[in-house]
Amino acid sequence: VLRLPPLALYVHLPWCERKCPYCDFNSYQSTGAPPFEGYVTRLLQDLEGESVHSAGRDIQSVFIGGGTPSLFPQDSLARLLGGIGDHVMLADDAEITLEANPGSAEAAKFSALRAAGVNRLSIGIQSFNDASLRALGRVHDSRQALAAVDAARSAGFERFNIDLMHGLPGQTVAMALEDLEQALALQPPHLSWYQLTLEPNTAFHRSPPTLPVEDLLAEIQDRGEELLLAHGYEQYEVSAWARPGHACRHNLNYWQFGDYIGIGAGAHGKLTLAPGRAIMRTRKTRAPQDYLDGGGAPVCHREAVAEDELVLEFLMNALRLREGVPIALFEQRTGLSRDRLEPMLHSLREEGLMQAQEDRLGTTAQGFRFLNLVLQRF
Ligand SMILES: C[S@@+](CC[C@H](N)C(=O)[O-])C[C@H]1O[C@@H](n2cnc3c(N)ncnc32)[C@H](O)[C@@H]1O
Ligand code: SF4
Repeated sequence: VLRLPPLALYVHLPWCERKCPYCDFNSYQSTGAPPFEGYVTRLLQDLEGESVHSAGRDIQSVFIGGGTPSLFPQDSLARLLGGIGDHVMLADDAEITLEANPGSAEAAKFSALRAAGVNRLSIGIQSFNDASLRALGRVHDSRQALAAVDAARSAGFERFNIDLMHGLPGQTVAMALEDLEQALALQPPHLSWYQLTLEPNTAFHRSPPTLPVEDLLAEIQDRGEELLLAHGYEQYEVSAWARPGHACRHNLNYWQFGDYIGIGAGAHGKLTLAPGRAIMRTRKTRAPQDYLDGGGAPVCHREAVAEDELVLEFLMNALRLREGVPIALFEQRTGLSRDRLEPMLHSLREEGLMQAQEDRLGTTAQGFRFLNLVLQRF
């Protein structure tokens, strides 16, 4: 029997204290105070417009991302969380994550957020090295980063994530490992460890800083992985590490090709219209002011996903998972036959890039290392 996939909710809050030079997220440095209250009102209208998609379905996880959600006043965030609870049915054990930047003003809100129902924080630390933080144009220093983790613990957050980046301007292998060691000393249940990339339309792309050369990047990657493994962390996705049982359910749902409603400026959604049938992508107006303007529900672009795209989209998500997925999930989530994956799957198995078990769809260690090449073959 075909069933609809699990459903999640993504909420985008687009403002930051300052735009970081490497960041291509839909985030904006605001001149003057952003219209926090008006934006929350709009988000809830947006959610109401989407409620047809959540009818009869529990929301398994909520992710409030940005931007810098912790920039919003705690009362606005509490109103947002309350409104979400009014409009959709949250699962009893729903994971509710909010992204926060270190900084005393934010940290002081953590207790109120916990009380308002947030049960997981994702703290964007990036580095514990003050020179690196300056090179990244971050508004906080390492002392504030440590204080934010402290504040998260004191506020009762048992589940939290630290975002770290590596391959930073002027970074040596020793500096990168030192960053990881500092993070590990805080024993975060979850750690996202991203290699810095130069994205189009960012200040770093226009005037690139000097980044570590390929050999160094590879050494940082290898030695960092060893360190994380030695501390009991499991790599369950390309950049995601967690202590056993602490994988991020919201992100797992993306990678397992689950459904999600996206509300907020530029937010994307993916919805299965009937079990094993047409899949629709949604995309909200990107510029915050356009999103705020106008009456009725915010402008939403909707399009059906073609079958060929569906295959590739599924693989681009599922193969990011270290273990991959059962091949049956491909059929459940796309409504397509596994025959679609042959003969490519067959030859990649022969080459030792994909796991040999008939019922699995996942890379081998070698395939994981060269994931882009594997994906290109499909
Ligand atoms: C949406 S950002 C938001 C988090 C929060 N606003 C912050 O910056 O602390 C999520 C994470 O993506 C990572 N990230 C952003 N731009 C990146 C880039 N160009 N390369 C690698 N990682 C990046 C950072 O670690 C960041 O914390
Ligand atoms: S990295 Fe985070 S704080 Fe910096 S501009 Fe992007 S979303 Fe904002």
